Order: sequence, then C-alpha cells, then structure tokens
Amino acid sequence: MNTTGRIDVHSHLLPCVDDGCASLAESLDCARRMVAAGYTDSFCTPHYWPNLKTSAKTVPQWTRELQSALDSAGIPLRLHPGGEINLRAGLSESDPADIVSYGMAGKYALFDLWADVLPDFFEPQVKWLQSLGLQLILAHPERMRAVQDDPDLADYFAELGLLLQGNLQCLSDPAGSDTRVTVELYLKQDRYFMLGSDLHNSRTLEARLNGLKRAVELIGDETVDRLTKENPGKILLSTQPIV
Ligand SMILES: [Fe+2]
Repeated sequence: MNTTGRIDVHSHLLPCVDDGCASLAESLDCARRMVAAGYTDSFCTPHYWPNLKTSAKTVPQWTRELQSALDSAGIPLRLHPGGEINLRAGLSESDPADIVSYGMAGKYALFDLWADVLPDFFEPQVKWLQSLGLQLILAHPERMRAVQDDPDLADYFAELGLLLQGNLQCLSDPAGSDTRVTVELYLKQDRYFMLGSDLHNSRTLEARLNGLKRAVELIGDETVDRLTKENPGKILLSTQPIV
C-alpha cells in the first residue's frame, strides 16, 4: 500500500513573489487546504520571468522562510523549491546558474509557454535547456491554444523528450471548453507524467481541488496516484542527496 501523501508539483504558494499568493495569510490558508486534500509535499514553483527576482538562489531562501511559517502554524506540509521557467526567445542568454529546477538539483525542470502556434524559438530554446542536463516538463499544455487546435502536438513533444504536466483546474472548467476537452483527452490518452494544482490563491483553490476529484472519476484512483504521488516522488527523490 502506498502510504505517501500527494506531492504538488506546481504551485505559486510563496507569498508576494509573483501573481500567486498575495500575503503570508493566503499562503497559510492554501497550504492548510492542500493538507486537508491529502497533500504532504509541495514544490514552490514561482514564475521565472525576467522582471521577477526568481532564481536558483532566491527560491530556496523564500521556501525556507515559508516552511518556518508553516511549521509555526502547525501545518504539516513539506515544501521544496522549484520554479516555472517561461520559454522565450532570449532565454538561452540567461546565466545557467540562475535557471530554476526542482530542488535546484539540475535534473527535472518545469517550463511554460503561451502560444497560438509553436514559435520558431521553441525547439532551440528547449534544446538549450536540455543541453544543461535538464529533463524538461511542459506545464499545462492543455492551456495552450496551439495544443487545443492540434492535440497531436503531444507526439512532437514526446519526440523532443518532453514530459507533460496537466493542471487540475482545467478539469473544473466548463464542460466542452477547450481546456477541459484537451485535459480530458490527454488524461485518457495517458499523455501526462504528472498533475499539479498550479495554485495561485485562496479564491480558485476549491476549483483546482475539485479537479482532482474529477480526475479520479475519469481515470481512477490508481492512475491519479501515479500522476500525483509516484511520478512526483521520482522528482522528489532526484532532489535528495545521495548518501
Ligand atoms: Fe504556474
């Protein structure tokens, strides 16, 4: 029996860093509700945008600070640093030491992209990140117009060696909406490596957690456990020092 709790692989839980939680109180509220929903661990994955201070140095510090606040409040959620890299044309000019990855371990990294059609920079920038030794995971492809229009892009992503992360909230979107149709299709096709909350605030958390229930209805407990426990557990393991 798997007694490990769920591991959230995508969250904007850190307060006052990006467009996520806007106060410590909001972070604590969201963390408490994630625990109630069965989560024991959460990666803090703030946006890695040029206008933010997110980096491989700052996120671990911010994560430790929030962990202290959770511990003081008696909220049993273990936090781990991470980040969400926005793929853009000039990304490869960044200092590789700044690039955020899960646990800052340089093994798995989450990235997002917003595109109506895949831009010319997509493949070169992906390859640059891969040249740093990163196993890349594309965040919420179902939210991208290019993917909604052509779901078979998942084959191309797989050829490039990308893994996919689905967003729970998309399962709470209105039936028939592009995001809901695409996320359900990818779940049924077993395209995802993992599911994440992508939580941003107290207001939308309930819809995200309802999405978890819908995922169970759609693909069953065992598969949801693979996407929220087993595979995220591989990432967590990759962040821990070998002893
Ligand atoms: Fe995100």
